[in-house]
Amino acid sequence: EGTYELVVVANRLPVDRVTDDDGTVRWQQSPGGLVTAMQSVMTGQDGAWVGWSGDPGEAPEPFDSGDMHLHAVGLTEQEIEDHYEGFSNETLWPLYHDVIVPPRFRRRWFDGYRTVNRRFAEVAASLAAPGATVWVHDYQLQLVPAMLRELRPDVRIGWFNHIPFPGVEIFAQLPWRKHVVQGLLGADLLGFQRRADADNFLRVCRRLLGLHTRGGTVEVPGPGDSTRVVRASSFPISIDAASLSDLARTPEVMERARQIRRDLGDPEHVLLGVDRLDYTKGIRHRLKAYEELLSDGVLAPPQAVLVQVATPSRERVSAYIQLREQVEVTVGRANGDFGHLGMPAIHYLHQSYGRAEMAAMFLAADVMLVTPLRDGMNLVAKEYVTCRHDDGGALVLSEFTGAAGELDRAFICNPHDIDGLKYTIRHALDADPAEKRRRMRAMRRRVAEYDVSRWAGDFLAALDAAPDRP
Ligand code: G6P
Repeated sequence: EGTYELVVVANRLPVDRVTDDDGTVRWQQSPGGLVTAMQSVMTGQDGAWVGWSGDPGEAPEPFDSGDMHLHAVGLTEQEIEDHYEGFSNETLWPLYHDVIVPPRFRRRWFDGYRTVNRRFAEVAASLAAPGATVWVHDYQLQLVPAMLRELRPDVRIGWFNHIPFPGVEIFAQLPWRKHVVQGLLGADLLGFQRRADADNFLRVCRRLLGLHTRGGTVEVPGPGDSTRVVRASSFPISIDAASLSDLARTPEVMERARQIRRDLGDPEHVLLGVDRLDYTKGIRHRLKAYEELLSDGVLAPPQAVLVQVATPSRERVSAYIQLREQVEVTVGRANGDFGHLGMPAIHYLHQSYGRAEMAAMFLAADVMLVTPLRDGMNLVAKEYVTCRHDDGGALVLSEFTGAAGELDRAFICNPHDIDGLKYTIRHALDADPAEKRRRMRAMRRRVAEYDVSRWAGDFLAALDAAPDRP
């Protein structure tokens, strides 16, 4: 038993260990929505965070970062291949995102997933104080709740899924579907982004395991005649809106935004996409629509320019290698066909940027394109509207994101419908400015109100009140 009242368990630590070419080691913020949200939740808490350092090999010694205790879990090269790249990102990720690419089912990968999940459960068990709260995150760690319950029946266990939970017909493909559901049912509370995700999970429990569900809970048979009750609810994740909004108001960021527009040649229309380079994000559909707007002559550089930031992600997984090639061919073709000297049609940046630079890009963009084919939430959409304290800009948002449930004043699109997407981009550019300001203000207010601390507070309160407290 350890001493921490709150233990967060996530596949990654909030920082990655990066070894430079000359062998020096530094730590930098990990990519993705999970870390963006949880980092601010943990500030000010005397909590521990269990996660992988992002590097192969032995775990570095536990260390403190601010008021957080970071405890790294070591993964071997083989475990990275089987647990992280294999089962998590070639099996579960595509399966849970509506099979946009075909999931691959390999038995060795599941063995690696189970081994690594057990290691995370053991570390969490060693850090949690008696009766502590352990908050497990995301699809990489779905077996941890049941494993942890076995080791530490005294702790409260919550799990939150940052990505969608698929319909039962899709989930049923998974050869290890029962293991996964039974792993999750070790928790007291299961959190999902949308009500629809929680409902999908409850249907899986009924249809594939024959369990009884009632009013958002599942009855899990225990020893003898006993039953445990597990609750499944939705908690749409958010961002630290106040601090991001403050950052976007600083003179440095506002000047940087003006500088970015000058660097782009002071175009009339700046369009922006910011995503991890992932096939769920609809980057190819977005580029297709933009390329057609150029070839139709509706938009033309230098009056219009698209900036696409594509943060490197999962670079050894084949679907990501293919996507990168396709995106780079398309960008090259568009620039070859429609660019001018010193004025590319698309500025493509396969890099990651800090918070201040991102805030400046958001402020510089007339239209933000968030067009995923499927996305649990999408925090970039929330970051964009939060930075627009000037009420400027317009958000084009896919209906297949969790964010669309809250940001319904965006210019909503179906990214599969290229004509519709082109129409929506033009609409977002041409709409009446007063109308755009009203939409932006309403969306900004929503995110400011339901920010990440409300999200975490709601989840932890529901976990505390979850049924069956011993
Ligand atoms: C998504 C997932 C996170 C993940 C992040 C980055 O946001 O929900 O769990 O950490 O992507 O992906 P990576 O594979 O680099 O951790």
